[in-house]
Amino acid sequence: MMGNTFGRMFRITTCGESYSGAFRKHLPVPPELYGGLMVIVDGVPPGIKLAAEMIQEELDKRRPGQSKLDSPRKEKDRVYIFSGVMEDDMTTGAPVGMLIPNVDIEDDQIEKHRSYKDLIRPGQAAYTYYKKYGDYADWLGAGRASGRETAARVAGGAVAKAVLDRMGIDVIAFVTEIHGIKAGPITYEMAKMNYRKNELNCPDLEKAEEMIRDLLKVKAEGDSVGGVIEVIARGVPAGIGEPVFDKLDAIIAHAIMSIGAVKGIEFGEGFGHAALKGSESNDTPYYDSASGRIRFRTNRAGGILGGISTGEDIRIRIAVKPTPTIPLPQETVNVATLENVTNSFRTRNDPSICPRIYPVCEAMTRIAILDAIYMAKGYEGVAQIGSKWKKL
Ligand SMILES: Cc1cc2nc3c(=O)[nH]c(=O)nc-3n(C[C@H](O)[C@H](O)[C@H](O)COP(=O)(O)O)c2cc1C
Repeated sequence: MMGNTFGRMFRITTCGESYSGAFRKHLPVPPELYGGLMVIVDGVPPGIKLAAEMIQEELDKRRPGQSKLDSPRKEKDRVYIFSGVMEDDMTTGAPVGMLIPNVDIEDDQIEKHRSYKDLIRPGQAAYTYYKKYGDYADWLGAGRASGRETAARVAGGAVAKAVLDRMGIDVIAFVTEIHGIKAGPITYEMAKMNYRKNELNCPDLEKAEEMIRDLLKVKAEGDSVGGVIEVIARGVPAGIGEPVFDKLDAIIAHAIMSIGAVKGIEFGEGFGHAALKGSESNDTPYYDSASGRIRFRTNRAGGILGGISTGEDIRIRIAVKPTPTIPLPQETVNVATLENVTNSFRTRNDPSICPRIYPVCEAMTRIAILDAIYMAKGYEGVAQIGSKWKKL
């Protein structure tokens, strides 16, 4: 398997699977060391406060088993920082390594997954993993295709958050649509005020009630639903991003599209631009004497023009598909016998991925933006060296 690193200068490398450790329970080590997820964060500046509680706060947002809307799996998602920080939890500039042990890896769950081992789970990565990795494919809880993989990303994203906080850059994500039920327009202020006020983290508190009722009804039917996540990044200065292959929107899209179950992304007006005239799509610039900078009267561009940030909010919409594993009977194939069969997959599932994916969207957006800042500032720094080199 390749491609387990994201970022060019600020980088995360992750490993670990849904049930890693499940077959090492006999080892003479503490249960926390049977297996789990790990992340190494490269490019962390020295002198950043990074206490385990700061990482834990982010991880707790996506931890399963917290409400009737998510998977009943009981994972503590306890994070251990094991490198890169010194006294008073300050980073040294060395790579930050973190470990998140799997604790809910009981034998009854393993046996349940073993019974589905040869059945292609519709909508899941089971078939493509089987084609690529053959008999060695990890069949336990979807392996690295599991939502559990995203815990390591969230831990990495928490490090990016600590750095971005210092720069005054805030990234917030929330649910705006579930199963076609849409929230009203959400401003940054509204998202901040109502952040995590309900189990869905939908800042439109009234619509959220309707969404939750629908979600519970669909869950009772043994089905699942998709939805839309919105992300706002405020405080990104103008000039971040490269103009060609490494456009800021392309880098963020890479980060977001690498999350399981994400099927689409748009920036600002996104697909809506297709139906507009130029005069309707263009954002009008003006000089804002209060801030002393050029601003835009609207933000249909979503804060990015020509791959480079404008200084306005970066606004992203993300389409999330319904959870593929559902208890409703579905037609499938047994790859061992090549029989067409019907099966109900009764594993521990999220009836919708939306209430648990928004912290992952925050994490990946932060990592992508911070990496783009490193690139922009690195370039700027080199461009300014000139004859001053001797003084450095
Ligand atoms: C936070 C999170 C939780 C998820 N939970 C589940 C789940 O409970 N059951 C499931 O079948 N898929 C779940 N998924 C989705 C699968 O990971 C994803 O659909 C699968 O890997 C196939 O990838 P694709 O949908 O991007 O093609 C989850 C994804 C995320 C990000």
